[in-house]
Amino acid sequence: MAIRKVGVLTAGGDSPGLNAAIRAFGKAAIGYGWEVVGYRDGFRGIAEDRRVKLSKATLSGILTVGGTVLGTSRDKPHRMPIDGETRDMTDQIVANYRKAGLDALVCIGGGGTAKNALRLSKAGLDVITLPKTIDFDLAGTDATIGFATALEIATDAIDRLHSTAHSHHRIIVAEIMGHGAGWLTLGSGLAGGADVILIPEIPYTVATVADAINRRVRAGTNFSIVAVAEGARSVEDARALAAAEARLDAAGERTAKDAARSEIELLELQHTGNTLRLAHQLEQLTGLESRVSILGYVQRGGTPSPLDRLLATLVGTAAADLVAARTFGVMVAARGDSTEAVPLNEVAGRRHTVPPDHPWIAAARHVRTCLGDEAP
Ligand code: F6P
Repeated sequence: MAIRKVGVLTAGGDSPGLNAAIRAFGKAAIGYGWEVVGYRDGFRGIAEDRRVKLSKATLSGILTVGGTVLGTSRDKPHRMPIDGETRDMTDQIVANYRKAGLDALVCIGGGGTAKNALRLSKAGLDVITLPKTIDFDLAGTDATIGFATALEIATDAIDRLHSTAHSHHRIIVAEIMGHGAGWLTLGSGLAGGADVILIPEIPYTVATVADAINRRVRAGTNFSIVAVAEGARSVEDARALAAAEARLDAAGERTAKDAARSEIELLELQHTGNTLRLAHQLEQLTGLESRVSILGYVQRGGTPSPLDRLLATLVGTAAADLVAARTFGVMVAARGDSTEAVPLNEVAGRRHTVPPDHPWIAAARHVRTCLGDEAP
């Protein structure tokens, strides 16, 4: 049967380039002669059947606009808070997809979206995902929509923080997003010439960081920029988290699972404020005034960079081609300067973190950036 109608939604955190992807898929789909609808606020929108028709007119003028014109949410189809209780909305989503007469649904999002889309695909929907995350922690793709822009913003911030750091002879600790992955911090730290870069993949020792800063002072440079990933942890904290995660993996029965989950929650809670604690510890160990800049949501906002627009346009249009070819249950990955369809079950549940032998790590060590560990 011919394709007649397709849907699109954005899920997970907002990110520069989402609108460029909606536009690319939508325009290509209209070019194929299909009707296109957009669902509001991620998977919640399809669960509640809130949709809007996307025409050439609504898709025009959004290429450079930040965020997502459709809205987004972190709601999961199988665990959605509805009227004060958590409900499995999978069957409702399937019913709403059928009611709308959809032939395919394109979900633009990161790792969580891949998992949710795989679930919907197993429930019988024809689903394709597009890779989006500023964290670049999504498996199976060479690039993700949003990372290039966030990298530019974080690098620009590090550049600017140098002004105050060198003028006031201070340590400035810049906290950078990335969830459990260090790509954004390592990339912007390297590009911005941070003196210390701390990422989740390399647990740090505060004394090692302080030593590196004190060495700079002895050599005549009395300021330092520390780029710290929000997920970076000291050796002790990383050990405690890994042990709790191992207990969760090993837990057989529900009570053991719940106990391990609460332990992880507590450790996450204790991690809040880690950057402030680190700055305080460094001030005490070096005698230099320390300040903190938490870059936060600034990294996700505003106009997408040309690279993100290009990527979004490439994967968005490739998704329409895949729908036309009836290739479903896949993510459109960026591969070299082209795209590739990767089965969702090879993406869902896998995380892309910085490998210890990555060239960016080697380059950072070569230029004598402190990574918080004892350099091998
Ligand atoms: O995944 C993108 C991201 O910005 C992460 O870097 C960060 O940990 C998280 O989202 C913040 O989530 P929220 O938007 O739910 O506060």
